[in-house]
Amino acid sequence: MTDGRFISLEGGEGTGKSTQARALAKALEKHGLVVRLTREPGGTPGAEIIRELLLTGGQDKWDMRTEALLFAAARAEHCGKLIRPALARGEWVICDRFIDSSRAYQSVDGELGDSEILALHQVGSKGLMPDRTFILDLPEAVASRRAAARDRGDSDRIGGRDSDYHQAVMAKFRQFAADEPERIHLVDASQSVEAITDMLLQNLEAMMS
Ligand code: TMP
Repeated sequence: MTDGRFISLEGGEGTGKSTQARALAKALEKHGLVVRLTREPGGTPGAEIIRELLLTGGQDKWDMRTEALLFAAARAEHCGKLIRPALARGEWVICDRFIDSSRAYQSVDGELGDSEILALHQVGSKGLMPDRTFILDLPEAVASRRAAARDRGDSDRIGGRDSDYHQAVMAKFRQFAADEPERIHLVDASQSVEAITDMLLQNLEAMMS
């Protein structure tokens, strides 16, 4: 058992997750909490190397099974070396993407099912799940415009997949929120950064006491 809290932010490309993760971490620190802001894939030196392997190169560099295994390997490293130790010290871990990204992105082509992705997570990371997950939700067209402006034509190997793929990813995320309403909360990401942070803080209030 741990005293810390584990919060993940999820969503498609261009939904403002990383901005929101930083804003939320700052706001929680102002409440006197010790916060560890991290991201996936990555978060530790070894996992950042796997991130580079995953996000660079052509579409057919990895098949979907290899891709899912690499994400699970990066996550195992991250959970073992950073997330679990921080939670054990009583810290709040804010993670920009976690297992729900694998459940969405690595399953849309139908090669792998949810139970297989969760099985990899069980082997790699002993099934560690966030206490709360926020999915930042935007219509795919708006999100892809924002991501294109951010990346200026230089999107990574996965971000560069076509809009049908990203639309299917968004649909998966919405389905997760419907299936698991206690852990996963859908957030309207068209509001201002400040309004979203306030909403997340309110949502987390009960966990702070
Ligand atoms: P980022 O751009 O939010 O840092 O994420 C990198 C890319 O990796 C993004 O396109 C989503 C993708 N991704 C997966 O496909 N599966 C995963 O498990 C994770 C964590 C990210």
